[in-house]
Amino acid sequence: SAAEKGGYDYFMLKEIVEQPKAVADTLLGRVGVDGTLTLDEMRLAPSDLRDIEKIVIIACGTSYHAGMIAKYAIEHWCRIPCEVEVASEFRYRDPILDRQTLVIAISQSGESMDTLMAVRYAREQNARVLAICNVNGSTIPRESDGVLYTHAGPEVGVAATKTFLTQLIACYLIGLYLAQVRGLKFGDEINAVIAQLANMPEQVERVLATVEPVRELARSLSDADTVLFLGRHVGYPVAMEGALKLKELAYMHAEAFAAGELKHGPIALIEQDLPVVVVVPSRAGRSVLHDKIVSNIQEIRARGARTIVIAEEGDETVRPFADELIEVPAVPTLLQPIVATVPLQVFACELALAKGNDVDQPRNLAKSVTVE
Ligand code: G6P
Repeated sequence: SAAEKGGYDYFMLKEIVEQPKAVADTLLGRVGVDGTLTLDEMRLAPSDLRDIEKIVIIACGTSYHAGMIAKYAIEHWCRIPCEVEVASEFRYRDPILDRQTLVIAISQSGESMDTLMAVRYAREQNARVLAICNVNGSTIPRESDGVLYTHAGPEVGVAATKTFLTQLIACYLIGLYLAQVRGLKFGDEINAVIAQLANMPEQVERVLATVEPVRELARSLSDADTVLFLGRHVGYPVAMEGALKLKELAYMHAEAFAAGELKHGPIALIEQDLPVVVVVPSRAGRSVLHDKIVSNIQEIRARGARTIVIAEEGDETVRPFADELIEVPAVPTLLQPIVATVPLQVFACELALAKGNDVDQPRNLAKSVTVE
């Protein structure tokens, strides 16, 4: 009913605007004023996490993209080697697991069969398994050694939105907690991240307040056949998530590339007026990548692409090469996916609506896939 949808025509629209609250709820009670993390409810004792030598993240769909971003954060903060794999591939390749391996299973529903089978396999191999999940008491957390719930509230729209942002928050919390229990000294960079986490709900709110031009842009592209997405570093999984949303909702060909790979093939796809969305890394601490992606934008534009650029506010260097500029708040690099994903959700949702699609129930898809 309309009431259930909070006055919106679709659950997805409601769930997109609920994101600031969902992010706040995931953070609630977990970060102290002095920056100390408390994740006691996770069921894994600090002693279990101290001797971890390797992390393997497994997930499907949007949750897999959260896992890709987690790898950048966890390796950078904790210096623990971290692999990410789609759950359906994991157990079929004879992965190397032991008691010192922490498997992190990310699943909104806690019921995806591919992820569940991977969890069972990992436990049989004696690995410790930590679930990141949104549905209390669902199968994956019940079968894992520990769980961190995302507390995003029920998500009805088939395409994940608020649960993705909150999975990212959960991943950041786990990365920071691992660093904390392993006694790593936090430098200025990590302290800045911890301080900024609390501002994320407000930053997402600011993005939502400025997305109207993104909607207009989406409507203007409803006849496009293909949209490409480029990103680097954590912007690469964000680009992948933007492409996935467009496939799921608008039934369009959409593909993401690591921007550095452009010259190794994808640049051959660029032709006049092809829309290309580019996620530009924040400048703080990653200025080399930033400059490289700015030259990528120049290269594709010189070949006729219509460049749709997502960049942080005040980034004047991209303006001359952006046919459309979507500004997001400046935040620490590793947190940028929290703000940069939101315009891409809105873009895909609006484009799908312009095509007359049901964004809550896209064709052929299920909210959780309980078959392998
Ligand atoms: C389905 C949904 C996706 C979701 C994926 C993983 O394919 O349509 O939106 O990302 O499953 O779901 P999970 O519940 O395991 O996160």
